[in-house]
Amino acid sequence: MLPTTALLLGLTGTALGFHVCQLIADEVSSVTDVYYPGSSSYVADNEHYATSSSQVSKCSVEPGSAEDIGIILGILGKTKTPFGIKGGGHAINQGFSSTTGVQIAMTRFNEVTYDSATQTAVIGAGNIWDDVYELLNTQGVNVVGGRVTGVGVAGLTLGGGYSYLSNQYGLAIDNMVAYELVVPNATVVTVTEENDPDLFFSLKGGFNNYGIITRFTLKAYPQGSVWGGGSSYNASYISAFNAATVKFSSEVTDPKAAMAMTYVYASGQVLLSALMFYDGPTPPDGIFDDFLTIPALTQDVTTRSFFDLINATSVSINAAAGYRAVYNHIPTLEYSESIIEGIFDELNFWGPTLSTHGALSVTYAVEPFLPSLLTHAPAGSSAYPSSRDHVVFPTVVSLEWVSESEDDVFHDAARQTAKKLGVEGESIYPNYAIYDTPVVDMYGEEGMKRMEATRERVDPYSVMLLTGGFKV
Ligand SMILES: Cc1cc2nc3c(=O)[nH]c(=O)nc-3n(C[C@H](O)[C@H](O)[C@H](O)COP(=O)(O)OP(=O)(O)OC[C@H]3O[C@@H](n4cnc5c(N)ncnc54)[C@H](O)[C@@H]3O)c2cc1C
Ligand SMILES: *[C@@H]1O[C@H](CO)[C@@H](O)[C@H](O)[C@H]1NC(C)=O
Ligand SMILES: *[C@@H]1O[C@H](CO)[C@@H](O)[C@H](O)[C@H]1NC(C)=O
Ligand SMILES: *[C@@H]1O[C@H](CO)[C@@H](O)[C@H](O)[C@H]1NC(C)=O
Repeated sequence: MLPTTALLLGLTGTALGFHVCQLIADEVSSVTDVYYPGSSSYVADNEHYATSSSQVSKCSVEPGSAEDIGIILGILGKTKTPFGIKGGGHAINQGFSSTTGVQIAMTRFNEVTYDSATQTAVIGAGNIWDDVYELLNTQGVNVVGGRVTGVGVAGLTLGGGYSYLSNQYGLAIDNMVAYELVVPNATVVTVTEENDPDLFFSLKGGFNNYGIITRFTLKAYPQGSVWGGGSSYNASYISAFNAATVKFSSEVTDPKAAMAMTYVYASGQVLLSALMFYDGPTPPDGIFDDFLTIPALTQDVTTRSFFDLINATSVSINAAAGYRAVYNHIPTLEYSESIIEGIFDELNFWGPTLSTHGALSVTYAVEPFLPSLLTHAPAGSSAYPSSRDHVVFPTVVSLEWVSESEDDVFHDAARQTAKKLGVEGESIYPNYAIYDTPVVDMYGEEGMKRMEATRERVDPYSVMLLTGGFKV
């Protein structure tokens, strides 16, 4: 009897999922489509940056209007069907934008328009930053967004957003003017500081807890050509590289300058790299010279458009490569010599250790910002970070491997190294945090209270708990 029962249950489960897909297809307008396994749209809709955050959904939906999203949320809520909302699909944690239920892919929300009268840009939630930069570039303006190719607007903006322009203009959330949001009762609302301060606050760090965002209105700034790009070095230059990193982090005060340094262990070797950025065609002498004088293995640093700078970045993996990944935030207060050496020691421990478990790479990224980073928006204006008293650098560890059976080893390593190197009690960056990080560590007690009360008001029937991610 048992096998038959199990088989029946299995069939019912599948039938139920497909039934919901059919219900959605029947109810939505002609601008929205539902796709099933076997179609190329289904494959694209389910694709994620890492295989660890890719799942097999029952079907995918590409909504074409905010009204249709309201209908979809109504059906998912009533049938209690799990779902995923995908922007750029760069969430590393499983189930955050992927699902075994209904995969919603926002790709049809791809508008990018600039309004010179208000100096704002309206950006659809299905865009990746590359496309935003390319379109705004033609109008001589820019917005605060991602630093490497392929990252989605939605997740980066809903989680915080560290940018090359952040020393000048703050985090991506600090530049938010309005959200167009479909709340779970199917109403399309425009959320601003004036008309709903609690929801406006909560969306700045709160991801998918309040509904599905369809459009972001962001402040735009004039943008001319920039200088920058990437450079890599072999491990024999570690002392010069570390010294240059410490010096840049502690001495450079020009807000137009920004950098990210990475320490990588791959194929049994250490590789050092630097991403350099200056918001102008030529950086003043002295800012990047220490990095430019170290003999480079590869170097692609030049005067170019902001779009070209981002398009020229190469990322280590993509979904097609089949790599699993985990990120964790290492909250850091300063990049002193001893802190940088501590990071390098951890690399030299975890690199060889994890290689025996099939690691493809172990990476630590050092991301210095000016002490004034969080002063571009008032205290209490956003859910993340929990405090704007001082800057917490978003140092991040990133691990890549292939075999699912090794997941626990890599997740544990990401936790251990963050605990060892990170400063306890500092606000954790949601976009870099491992999946089981307590949300109070990101938003603080006070922020959590405000976010919870807002969620109970906006989503009284907890529809948004049917989708994964950090839940308040
Ligand atoms: C290679 C790489 C480079 C990165 N660089 C940076 C960087 O420079 N600066 C930085 O700050 N971060 C960076 N990150 C982290 C990045 O910000 C997060 O991974 C971000 O969440 C990705 O956004 P996405 O839209 O691509 O992700 P997705 O996986 O599509 O979504 C992420 C989360 O947002 C939710 N979401 C997506 N769309 C919507 C919507 N319309 N409504 C409601 N919820 C939604 C999802 O449900 C999910 O929980 C980087 C990550 C990677 C992998
Ligand atoms: C780095 O490059 C130098 C000069 O080409 C070479 O002598 C050295 O062996 C290299 N070191 C490593 C660790 O690859
Ligand atoms: C973006 O970069 C790729 C190489 O990585 C190149 O082939 C392509 O032409 C670039 N796109 C534009 C519009 O410059
Ligand atoms: C739907 O939710 C919004 C936001 O909470 C609220 O303003 C609106 O009154 C609700 N509409 C209905 C019909 O319940």
